[in-house]
Amino acid sequence: MRQPLVVGNWKMQGSLAGVEALLGDLVSATPAAGVEVVVCPTYVHLAQAVSLCRFSSLTLGAQDCSHVQSGAYTGEVSPAMLAEIGCRWVILGHSERRQYQGESDVLIAAKLMSAAEAGLRPIVCVGETREQREAGAAQAVVSTQLEEALKGRANLAQLVLAYEPVWAIGTGLTATPEQAQQMHAFMRVCLADIANVDSAATRILYGGSVKPDNAAQLFAQPDIDGALVGGAALVAADFLAIINAAAA
Ligand code: PGA
Repeated sequence: MRQPLVVGNWKMQGSLAGVEALLGDLVSATPAAGVEVVVCPTYVHLAQAVSLCRFSSLTLGAQDCSHVQSGAYTGEVSPAMLAEIGCRWVILGHSERRQYQGESDVLIAAKLMSAAEAGLRPIVCVGETREQREAGAAQAVVSTQLEEALKGRANLAQLVLAYEPVWAIGTGLTATPEQAQQMHAFMRVCLADIANVDSAATRILYGGSVKPDNAAQLFAQPDIDGALVGGAALVAADFLAIINAAAA
């Protein structure tokens, strides 16, 4: 039995006052039974967020981390530093980082190693572009991203994956529940070939324009174990509605 997981990816948004208000609303809401909830603010808001959530069941994640634990890497933040301040999760390989920061599968694999070493729970994102889907290459793209990020890596017991079709992120377009289920089932088959991963136990989240009105249909699919939520995670009522849909 895989416990439902809902993760809010706040991206480069928020302010000290905004984080306090949004987390205040989330923390004061009655937690939905049985759903694990994670919120991922920017690096600069993480320590504040850890403190605001310390008496709640919400846990915190970062949106990225360095591939090493310390050293002369100007501008980077290491997984060890994140773990030390109470951050428990990290999103890796988000399509916006692949696109705007040029992150490669090789770099994502190195980040995964270093995150696992520091005890952070990784959420590894994969997904095809619209052109790749239209060319019939969606499964090939996703399986390559998975293999490159995961193959041969030790300590993946805590691994979470997120299928985020690039064409559905922030666009209002969502994969249909059937399209998403098909890819999630395919990913589970791919996982079975990767050492150190328990494919039946690994949670696979869907991401890409998840909203209160489409969440329930997505979560009804057998291989969709929760969501990685962008825009709707910034509105407390919407995020709570998605969490409740995962509990139903
Ligand atoms: P979205 O973002 O929900 O705004 O489409 C999802 C994500 O990028 O993780």
